[in-house]
This record gives sequence, structure tokens and C-alpha cells, in this order.
Amino acid sequence: MIMDRDKAKAAFEEYTNRYDSTEIRVRLKIDHTYRVADIAERIAKSIAADADLAWLLGLLHDIGRFEQLKRYGTFKDAESVDHAELGADILFGEEMLMRAFPGFTHDGYEKIAETAIRAHNKLVIPEGLDETTVMYCNILRDADKIDIFRVLTEPPYDERNKLVDTLTAPAREEVMEYVRAHRCLPGKMEKNMFENWIAKCCFAFELVYDESIAITREQGYFDVIFKHDMKDMRLKAQYDELEKELAKKMKIKY
Ligand SMILES: [Fe+2]
Repeated sequence: MIMDRDKAKAAFEEYTNRYDSTEIRVRLKIDHTYRVADIAERIAKSIAADADLAWLLGLLHDIGRFEQLKRYGTFKDAESVDHAELGADILFGEEMLMRAFPGFTHDGYEKIAETAIRAHNKLVIPEGLDETTVMYCNILRDADKIDIFRVLTEPPYDERNKLVDTLTAPAREEVMEYVRAHRCLPGKMEKNMFENWIAKCCFAFELVYDESIAITREQGYFDVIFKHDMKDMRLKAQYDELEKELAKKMKIKY
């Protein structure tokens, strides 16, 4: 796909200008968007996929966030709306916002993009998709996860990470089973702050591409996350186990 990225960025800015960019959450989401686009492009290049399409998927994947925040004042899907479905509806539904973005004229790309955007926040991608669509779903999901690690180590979301060594409620055994199985936790499974922190770390287990692991290692997210001196012995044992399992996945010693 040959794409005019300046035109795509201009269309994205024109859309986000409808929202309040002085609101920090809008700003953060715009930053996240550009980073995911760049990471998706890098992953795509590593596997000889279409870098322009991957970049565009990154640019568009969270487009529903702005309307979600405006309508409901939150990014929590469980308390508002599924932002991926909302974004895909804005792009491919009646408003057809995707017409403002170059590149969708290529055969089948519109369908791939719609599927990848709708699937980007789901626990698993839908069954029965063709190989190419699965690949773009995975590129986008990997890129999104990688940038979520960054977001979690920066203000304002780093507070929870800083507090990890003061927590006293351990994770339930069923949560640790997901750690041992190298799986992401289903939504709403977390019942306390430690489980919530573990759930975010577990995103790494389902990274699909070697390049995704390389980018995560290179950017050092887990070096920041695993520097706690855990006070509670039960939590320390679980923390150590998680660290050990992640080291296997990431092929690194933390
Ligand atoms: Fe998202």
C-alpha cells in the first residue's frame, strides 16, 4: 500500500481537534496513538508485512477513545462502551470517517482494518479469520500491548506500579494459574490491586512476534516494573514466580 502519511496525520488531527486537547487524557491518547503506529510499522517490517497498513491501523485503532471520553468521561469500557467497537463504527459505519484516510482503496484492506480495530482490545481474536487478517490483528495487538507497558511506567499511571511493594493482599491461585500458563487474564477477573498489576504484566505472555519481544526488551519496561522490594512474603513469592515466567517468555534475566 502506498500511502500519504502526512495526509493521514492531517485527517487524524482534524478529527481529534473536535475534542478538547487541553484535557490530559486526550493528549495522552494522541501520544499513545502515534507510538502504536510506529511500533506496528516496525513489527510489520520485521515480517515483511505492509508497513503502511500496519502504521495506519495503529493510527486508527483508538479513534473511539475520544468519543468515549466525551460521552462517558472515562476510558473504562466496562463502565461505558467498548471503545474498539465504537471506533470501528465511527470509521466504517454511517459516518464513514475512514474515507478521510488514504489507503483503503487497496483490495480487502478496508475489511482487514475493520476486523483488526474491532479485535484490538478483545481477549482473543475471532475464529475463522484468514491468515493475512490474523497477522494484522496480531501486529496491532502486539504494538498496543507494548505501548501500554510504557504508559504504565509513566505519569499519571505509574502510581499503581510504585505502590506494588506496599500491597498486602496476594493474588488468588486461579490468577497465578494464568501466569503459569503464560496467558492474559480475562477482563474483570482481577479482584485486587496486585491482581490488576499482574494482569498488566501478563500482556507480555501473548506477544506474538520476536520483534515485539525485542522492542519490549529494548525499551526496558520490565526493568522498571521489576525493581520492587516486596515487603509481604506471600506477595513476594508470587512476584518472583511472575518474574521467572516472564523471563522465560522474554528470554531475559530480570
Ligand atoms: Fe484501544
